[in-house]
Amino acid sequence: MSRKPIIAGNWKMNKTAKESRAFIEDVKLDIPSNDLVDAVIGAPAIFLEAMTEAVQGTDLQVAAQNCYWEDEGAFTGESSPKTLSDLGVDYVIIGHSERRQYFHESNEEINKKAHAIFRNGMKPIICCGETLETYEAGNAEEFVGQQITAALNELTEGQVQSLVIAYEPIWAIGTGKSATKDDAQKMCKTIRHIVAENFNQEVADQVRIQYGGSVKPENIAEYLACPDVDGALVGGASLQPESFLSLLEAIN
Ligand code: PGA
Repeated sequence: MSRKPIIAGNWKMNKTAKESRAFIEDVKLDIPSNDLVDAVIGAPAIFLEAMTEAVQGTDLQVAAQNCYWEDEGAFTGESSPKTLSDLGVDYVIIGHSERRQYFHESNEEINKKAHAIFRNGMKPIICCGETLETYEAGNAEEFVGQQITAALNELTEGQVQSLVIAYEPIWAIGTGKSATKDDAQKMCKTIRHIVAENFNQEVADQVRIQYGGSVKPENIAEYLACPDVDGALVGGASLQPESFLSLLEAIN
């Protein structure tokens, strides 16, 4: 089963519109063809328009880092999935652990967002991952299994086949303490198994699963070599042009 790798940078709340345009200028000629890899940047909502304009004619794609589940209405401060789609956004990252932790997002809300993203012609990158406490107690697989089952609720087989799941153990995010490749492979395999149980094997064989958490140019190849890991979601190491390009160079 060959799945196209997807390397996504998650800029979080970093950069200005001007800095983002400079970044795109620096990398755009060196992005590998998207026949080979999906190269994505997840940028802050306030300058997604600048990003979608800057990537035109390149092989880079753009992700939002969040959205609301209604298309429009009285929801002060939220970003509409309809508007994101209209701007030319390709993917929306949902359920990142920082959103779950600081903004109290629940599995049910993440599921509503997944439906809204598909309704508007984009694809979700659905994040999941356990705390250190859950990991040390040996309950990570059960915990992540529940997150995935809830997030995928009532999506169609075709939708699940086309979305991306990012496994990011919370204890590895921004800590420099990455999961071992064996841990990453084991959990990504478990997630694939859960998708097969909830949908079917064919859907599970298609869905792309990323590892995230302190991925950098020095360690990305180890993860990409794992049979169930189809790419990476990268925070800190995606902020500098050279480093982002080095991550993409790991694809061969
Ligand atoms: P990190 O962040 O690569 O800086 O650990 C990953 C993420 O939060 O997506």
